[in-house]
Amino acid sequence: MKVLMVYMSLHHGNTEKMAKTMANILDADLVQVKQAGAGMLEQYDLIGFGSGIYFGRHHESVLDFVDKLPVLKNKKAFIFSTSGLRKIPLVHDFDKPLRQKLQRKGFGIIAEFSCRGLDTYRATRLVGGINRGRPNAEDLKQAEDFARCLKNSGQSYLNPTLSSN
Ligand SMILES: Cc1cc2nc3c(=O)[nH]c(=O)nc-3n(C[C@H](O)[C@H](O)[C@H](O)COP(=O)(O)O)c2cc1C
Repeated sequence: MKVLMVYMSLHHGNTEKMAKTMANILDADLVQVKQAGAGMLEQYDLIGFGSGIYFGRHHESVLDFVDKLPVLKNKKAFIFSTSGLRKIPLVHDFDKPLRQKLQRKGFGIIAEFSCRGLDTYRATRLVGGINRGRPNAEDLKQAEDFARCLKNSGQSYLNPTLSSN
């Protein structure tokens, strides 16, 4: 199974740290979204899309990248992120905008992974940030387990939605 991971990580490199851990297990090609082109997706069976969460959604550059893709057939995708706050379905489901865009482009979303990352945006800076030291060893172990699960699933359908507290 050939895997590509497309990401943006700009606040503290939190998502990049997590993405590298996953890519290592998956033997994935890992590219920053600014270096990714629509044409390169053809050669992969599974594509991961991820970034930090900014204003309740994935980074604009990742969302824009998906917007510009043609509708694709038989492509599977997974979503990953780091965020200051935990994902709360219906209240703070920050995967939703990216998920919807990917689905509109024909992707089957097989899994989503999220963990906390150091956040020093706005008022959080006054207290030295929240989630200091994260993603930590436990977060990265969960990212590895998630990647192993994806790898072992091969092309078959699964839907592990993992999120550490
Ligand atoms: C401008 C800005 C907006 C943010 N908005 C949110 C948000 O809406 N929800 C959230 O949970 N975290 C938010 N965060 C925290 C980031 O998602 C978190 O720090 C993430 O780990 C950053 O990933 P990165 O280091 O890969 O960029 C925000 C951070 C910044 C800098």
